[in-house]
Amino acid sequence: MLRRKLPGTDLDLSVVGMGCWAMGGLWWGDDVRDDVSQAAVERALDLGINWFDTAPLYGHGHADEVLVRALGSRKNDVILASKVGVRWDGEGQHARSDLTPAWIRADLEANLKRLGVETIDLLQIHWPCELETPLEESIGTLESLRKEGKFRYLGLCNYDAAELREAARWGHIDSLQTPYSMLRREFEAELQPQVLAFPNEDGTTRQLGVLAYEPLCRGLLTGKYTATHKFPDSDLRSHDERWQGPRFLKALTLVSRLGLVAKRRGVPVAALALAWVLRQPGMTLAIAGAKTPQQIDEHVQAVGLLDQADLWPEIDRLVASFRG
Ligand SMILES: NC(=O)c1ccc[n+]([C@@H]2O[C@H](COP(=O)([O-])OP(=O)(O)OC[C@H]3O[C@@H](n4cnc5c(N)ncnc54)[C@H](OP(=O)(O)O)[C@@H]3O)[C@@H](O)[C@H]2O)c1
Repeated sequence: MLRRKLPGTDLDLSVVGMGCWAMGGLWWGDDVRDDVSQAAVERALDLGINWFDTAPLYGHGHADEVLVRALGSRKNDVILASKVGVRWDGEGQHARSDLTPAWIRADLEANLKRLGVETIDLLQIHWPCELETPLEESIGTLESLRKEGKFRYLGLCNYDAAELREAARWGHIDSLQTPYSMLRREFEAELQPQVLAFPNEDGTTRQLGVLAYEPLCRGLLTGKYTATHKFPDSDLRSHDERWQGPRFLKALTLVSRLGLVAKRRGVPVAALALAWVLRQPGMTLAIAGAKTPQQIDEHVQAVGLLDQADLWPEIDRLVASFRG
């Protein structure tokens, strides 16, 4: 498995990481089974995936529990990326971002306990604060917790370019996690130039590491879904507008064209989609969600496609022809 260094850190990460959201068992339909999720984690380890992206949000911590069980003694050999700041309402139905110092501390402590580690390798703010807490206070609290050894590197998720610049005034930001795929490219407008020349504290610039989430557009970019597919209400894709109407049909047209290329090459569509993400300027790594070992088998095939020079002009033309 090919690895890349997260710029400015000593984290040497497989270019494809495993996303643990679905294994939390909430919002991803009725087919998530802990034993199969565990088998997927084990397959990921066997095939050289050396990092896992999880969060307290994922199934109210259930994803963490399944992940830890699956990793077993191999937990010490992998890099754990987790998140902080999301708080459920009393009913456990709705979640919002609470970045008050007290909640950051409480959430991180619970996270460390669930994961059974003293230090989290990469801790990321899950999304910008929905309360009035100034960013200076939140980042300041996180920097104190970093000094206490609770985590090593600090990332942000879902911050736009202005918020990212603001955060960098109050602490050292090590990564950004943001949505990116052939079908979702808003990253390219303002974030891409920014992460390629990210301001340092001393006025110089550096490259900021970027982790792409939803690189498969929640499974749309795998070729397995058709226009007539119906998700159960328990699956967040049942009310995702990318899966509805003309936009969905256009996406399916792109996927079927990708499918022809994939067939000719003898590779899965998912591998093409992941490799495309990994080839884009400013993208360091892709986090691919998986429910089964077979999906992991497909994801790792992205690596072999990265340097196939004769493949990319055709794929780039197809992607450019898609208007979402
Ligand atoms: N920071 C954030 O706010 C944020 C937000 C979203 C995601 N993330 C992270 O990024 C990770 C990846 O994003 P995501 O899971 O939302 O979307 P994704 O990786 O684009 O899609 C994952 C889903 O696609 C389907 N799939 C995956 N591989 C497949 C294959 N080879 N063949 C067929 N279907 C396949 C699976 O669902 P089915 O089998 O049911 O189709 C899987 O759960 C998450 O797990 C999470 O760690 C972070």
